[in-house]
Amino acid sequence: MTMSGTPDDVGSVPGPAVAGHGTGGSGEPDSAVPWWRDTVCYEIYPRSFADGDGDGVGDLPGATARLDHLRELGVDAVWITPFYPSPLADGGYDITDHTAVAPDLGTQADFDALVQRAHALGVKVLVDLVPNHTSDEHPWFREGLAARPGSRARERYIFRPGRGENGELPPNDWQSAFGGPAWTRVQESDGSPGEWYLHLHAPQQPDLNWRDHEVVADFERILKHWLDRGVDGFRVDVAHTLFKEQGLPDAGAGQHQDIHRNHLMPYYDQEELHPLFRSWRALLDSHPAPAGAVPPGERVMVAEAGIFDRERLARYVSPGEMQQTFNFAFLESRWDGAAMRNVVEQSVAGMQAVGAPVTWVLSSHDAIRPVTRYGGGQVGERRARAAALLMLALPGAAYVYQGEELGLPQVELADDRLRDPLWERSGHQDRGRDGCRVPLPWEGDAAPYGFSTAAPEDCWFPQPTDWAGLSAMTQEKDGDSMLTLYRRALRLRRDHPASDAALKLDGPDSGEWFGFERGSGLRCVVNFGAQPLPLDDDADVLLSSAPLDGRGIPQDTAVWMTLKEYDSE
Ligand code: NOJ
Repeated sequence: MTMSGTPDDVGSVPGPAVAGHGTGGSGEPDSAVPWWRDTVCYEIYPRSFADGDGDGVGDLPGATARLDHLRELGVDAVWITPFYPSPLADGGYDITDHTAVAPDLGTQADFDALVQRAHALGVKVLVDLVPNHTSDEHPWFREGLAARPGSRARERYIFRPGRGENGELPPNDWQSAFGGPAWTRVQESDGSPGEWYLHLHAPQQPDLNWRDHEVVADFERILKHWLDRGVDGFRVDVAHTLFKEQGLPDAGAGQHQDIHRNHLMPYYDQEELHPLFRSWRALLDSHPAPAGAVPPGERVMVAEAGIFDRERLARYVSPGEMQQTFNFAFLESRWDGAAMRNVVEQSVAGMQAVGAPVTWVLSSHDAIRPVTRYGGGQVGERRARAAALLMLALPGAAYVYQGEELGLPQVELADDRLRDPLWERSGHQDRGRDGCRVPLPWEGDAAPYGFSTAAPEDCWFPQPTDWAGLSAMTQEKDGDSMLTLYRRALRLRRDHPASDAALKLDGPDSGEWFGFERGSGLRCVVNFGAQPLPLDDDADVLLSSAPLDGRGIPQDTAVWMTLKEYDSE
């Protein structure tokens, strides 16, 4: 086995440095390359990021005050998950007013201040667009409930009579993503059992009817509202579910078990999505931009689309639609060389077909944290470090979820602290996503570690008592910490823009290890196998996720290196 950049078994020859996509051949960023193609975007889940007013809940002023951390980290953009008014049935994804700020998170002026500070630091701002559903406390839904079946007010949502003799059965067999039927029966205003409404998530999140002209118009208003406030783009929540197949046919068994069938579900991936996305893109490309924001034409939309068929997924980012779509196949992959290699190759091929970059992601507010997912403890941490270097070397964009840069593990919360609707809806089988939403440790020896001035017991989720060593301040001083690794990686990534040459992976078919050129002379090699992998004689190591074993790369380690032949260029 060789670590050579010129392995015999593949056709990928690493050398002379490719005049890179992003470099203009000079090593300097190429202004002709849109910023979002290789951006690193940091996801802020505001309630758990930083608390500015001491009530135990993170908020917008708290986030603004911590933006320097992100600048130091070296990210290009932030995506802020919903900070809109919400009864919090689903962590803020149940919204009563899509153009306001939740009172416990701040004011519109606080949002403006955040955007202004971020832009002053050179950090772009994306916000969440949640078009599939509203809260059941949204004025539209209340109006719909108060109105009669068949009335105009009900057309904004998906109300239907039930099946069975007296309408006592749901209109079809669709299941909620959180468990249980996707339908809830309402009581009509005269007290009689009435129609059913659709909610692909919690009952408190009724689905909007995207064939209704008022819904379409309202989301144009919402997009313009945030563009006028200076945002640089949108992350589009469950972008694949907005339209439901006409006639609402049954979906059949195993609806949420086999994600590879997602595109075949009657409530996913319908054709009408694409003209809608094109209209949003045209709006983003033409609506005037205030000072400080990126100009029209450079704003970005990133789809959260749970579609695992790569050709179907690529359609979301085909020309004139969105620019990015999260690569969940990468996040879902188990820690295994052959599986990871396959997912990287397939993802790149899928996106290349439409000229879009891959948008890599290892974690989010919905996923088990990588350290835990990859095995927990030291093993999990070691793999999460290697995965980070793998992701950040790959060409394309990358999203980093708050706390990923600190290597936080998933927290096992007590039953009575769980808030995720998954917990109740699954009959206490699924503990849900709260364990990755625990407030960040910033500094200090004890909870709440600088997250808040509130007492630890007054913070909206409790932090573990052993997190002092994981705080940002502790890790800043530690040359071997996860935070230091991320900072170094992000700096090196900027200095080594990705090539636009087709990505080729080399390494044995068994997947024990693989390597690739990022371009600009940077080669990344990940060793999954038990045997240390010898380093090339002419390799200069730039960064390693774990200490090397002499001149060998140990198991579960990723290394970034330059090869001397580049230096001679
Ligand atoms: C995806 C969001 O990321 C998740 O947190 C939420 O529960 C669902 N969409 C529903 O909005």
